[in-house]
Amino acid sequence: MAQSRVPMGITLEDEDSAATPPGTHNLRSQFSSAPAKKAPGSSGEMRVAAQFRRRQARQFAMRLRTFVFWLAAQSCIAAHAQQVDGRAIFNVQCVVCHQPDGKGVPGNFPPLARNPDIFLTRDFPARVVLFGMSGKINVLGQAIDGTMPPLGDVLEDEEIAAVVTYVRGAFGNDTLRPKMMEPLDAATIKALRTTKDADQVYVYRKILKTRLTD
Ligand code: HEC
Repeated sequence: MAQSRVPMGITLEDEDSAATPPGTHNLRSQFSSAPAKKAPGSSGEMRVAAQFRRRQARQFAMRLRTFVFWLAAQSCIAAHAQQVDGRAIFNVQCVVCHQPDGKGVPGNFPPLARNPDIFLTRDFPARVVLFGMSGKINVLGQAIDGTMPPLGDVLEDEEIAAVVTYVRGAFGNDTLRPKMMEPLDAATIKALRTTKDADQVYVYRKILKTRLTD
């Protein structure tokens, strides 16, 4: 097979022996990182064009790989989020005080069952779980002056979203749900963490309740 030497020591095949007609894109040179045996032509310009296409193909392959990895990571995160079991978290983290039936302990721990406060706003119960709450409150006719410890360091964002979602759907609470209230997600909890209003949850509740003429 006749070959010609060109500057820079690159060996090219004779134009005559090239199977690819001039002007036709050689797919092998575009999509493979192996050196293309048949450059579309023997001129320096075409050689540079072929190298450029090969580089583009490599970059494309790299981007594709990155994208596939990203996609796989996303589906792992989504699968993990689905695995978080709000009921299980309730039975470990909340049950001692709020009780298995969610009715609490009169005078000490407020009921979460049929308690409209858990729908005061989309994020109110999440703030209570994150930062805790302390002070005199009145829940369903019961006066309570207690302290709930903050659980923000114990529970992950998605766990807090899951446990609040569980409480909102359990103990007959589903019937109290305002129609327009979106479910909580981990991103909202993450954003709440930066609000630095740990001591403000009680005040926040008071403002909300006053607004609702409590
Ligand atoms: C150590 C006991 C304790 C634990 C554990 C606990 N709580 Fe509480 N919780 C309380 C007390 C006490 C209050 C009332 C605080 C006050 O008097 O200001 C309260 C208040 C609340 C409120 C506000 C109720 C209202 O009417 O405003 C919510 C919502 C709540 N808790 C949810 C939870 C969830 C969900 C968990 C578990 C992730 C949990 N709590 C774990 C003791 C606890």
